[in-house]
Amino acid sequence: MRLTLHVWRQKNAASTGRMVRYQADDVNPDMSMLELLDVVNEGLIVTGEEPIAFEHDCREGICGSCGFMINGIAHGPLPATTVCQLTMRHFKDGQELYIEPWRARAFPLIKDLVVDRSAFDRIIGAGGYVSVPTASAPDGNTIPVPKENADRAMDAAACIGCGACVAACPNAAAALFTGAKIAHLGLLPQGQPERSRRALAMVREYNVEGFGSCTNIGECEAVCPKEIRLEVIARMNRDFIGASWGRR
Ligand code: SF4
Ligand code: FES
Repeated sequence: MRLTLHVWRQKNAASTGRMVRYQADDVNPDMSMLELLDVVNEGLIVTGEEPIAFEHDCREGICGSCGFMINGIAHGPLPATTVCQLTMRHFKDGQELYIEPWRARAFPLIKDLVVDRSAFDRIIGAGGYVSVPTASAPDGNTIPVPKENADRAMDAAACIGCGACVAACPNAAAALFTGAKIAHLGLLPQGQPERSRRALAMVREYNVEGFGSCTNIGECEAVCPKEIRLEVIARMNRDFIGASWGRR
């Protein structure tokens, strides 16, 4: 199949970016979006041009490294799928694809399709953990967890930190990501002692990083490759408001 790519090229944050057209012929329908970029890059390297910069690691949809907009949709048109798992057979022969980086003030551009998502790391660092004294790990079965809570915690823990939710949100809010991290730990017994402090610290860092506020539009849920549900935002708000009232 043949595809025409229009890819955002930008040397660095200080330079001006632009869309550049690349023609991809003989595209294997089974190759992933990242493999297509690999092939385009091989051609660019042969002709002495700068390859397109994009992030990747596992290429199995589990690490959260990859991600960009395809025709205005974060991670492209296939629901619950990262760009590393998105195969070309989901596009039509002759289709034009417009490929752009995540655009959000809290995710400054580094180069081409690569943005700085370290704001997510700082939100996690503010409280997305359970403090435990180091020793031998207790047997998991010694702490009973209701099945429903275990399932919901596991669903929230599926967040891979890709940033698609921020890129899709008209407010560039990070509520789905932060809510997933808060809900994951707040649903488990091990997360209870620090639950209030965690919600306060992580939401405070969220604001410091310059993400927008959630207005319940739901674009985040629609593009999330791990199908994180909006209910995690309600859990974040409940923990944050509860913790704020507890301080008065
Ligand atoms: S909530 Fe979904 S879209 Fe947002 S960072 Fe986590 S996995 Fe990615
Ligand atoms: S490269 Fe790891 S999720 Fe896509």
